[in-house]
Amino acid sequence: DLPNKVTIIEVGPRDGLQNVSVFISTEAKLQFIDQLKKSGIKEMEITSFVSPKWVPQMQDAEDIVWHSLDLNTRTIVLTPNRSGIQRARLSNCQEIALFVGVSNTFNQKNINRTTAQATEELLPLIKELKEQGVFVRACISTAFYCPFEGRVEEKETIQLCKQFVHAGVDELSVADTIGMAAPHESYSLFSKLTTLFSTTLITAHFHDTRGMALANIFAALQAGVSRFDTSAGGIGGCPFAPGASGNVATEDVVFMLERMGIQTGIQLPLLVQAIDVIAPHLPKPISSSFYTLYSKA
Ligand code: HMG
Ligand code: MG
Repeated sequence: DLPNKVTIIEVGPRDGLQNVSVFISTEAKLQFIDQLKKSGIKEMEITSFVSPKWVPQMQDAEDIVWHSLDLNTRTIVLTPNRSGIQRARLSNCQEIALFVGVSNTFNQKNINRTTAQATEELLPLIKELKEQGVFVRACISTAFYCPFEGRVEEKETIQLCKQFVHAGVDELSVADTIGMAAPHESYSLFSKLTTLFSTTLITAHFHDTRGMALANIFAALQAGVSRFDTSAGGIGGCPFAPGASGNVATEDVVFMLERMGIQTGIQLPLLVQAIDVIAPHLPKPISSSFYTLYSKA
């Protein structure tokens, strides 16, 4: 049975913008975030506390958080390590996403450590965060394919997820980093995850590099998933994953779900206005299907 309601976790301000090489003003990012909230987004990754040398676009994380925290929205920040968590907590963040990939080579390129090193650092921190009442999400990258190592074994992904669940995370966001997964793989992994970890929120994070994201979302819906990370305008990608293009577009996902009678609480005309805010700051035009048809900008 398909759900009658789905939660969209908007990742545009973080995943969408992190890869843009020209610095986008904090003001423009804040307007984008604000307009996304107006469209009905209730959960959002707003920025990341990462090394400004590695990802200069996210260097204004403190300012973004300072102006964006509000009690009606789950405002999530992404962090890879202890110092990122410290920065996030000093900024009063109550909702934190940790990230690590399944693949060693990907982790070495993305966070300069192996999967085991990263996990060893992160797992004990989860307990500390939970004691402080923080909502903890774990983003598991390269859950299907790695840009360097190729196919990732399902059982390795499940094993890594299990470690984070046992450490106490509230949510797993499981990612097809380079948009290589096919619907049967989405169905297979997500049906195992929803069965194994029935008390953890399970979220699917698809990049649309090869046009398979909507099909993968439909497969994940059938596997019992009712939470999806999406990015307004379909912008984004990980700077350290060659070939990772945009996330699946929020507006295309919302349109498909609403057509299926599944509620998202998001108002498409207002979402289009949010994309209008950020589009002029981006190096490439927005190419999502819904935006191309309906934007007046
Ligand atoms: P490193 O160079 O190994 O770091 O980078 P280090 O621990 O050796 O520290 C070196 C310097 O960085 C020190 O400063 C630290 O203080 C500083 P210095 O003494 O040289 O002045 N530093 C930091 N500064 C600010 N914030 C921090 C931080 N940590 C260390 N948190 C590190 C290791 C993890 C920091 C680096 O590799 C990094 O920042 N990587 C982030 C890469 C990234 O943001 N990738 C994109 C996000 S993941 C993604 O997009 C995938 C996802 O969407 C799901 C999917 O699609 O797969 C989530
Ligand atoms: Mg991503």
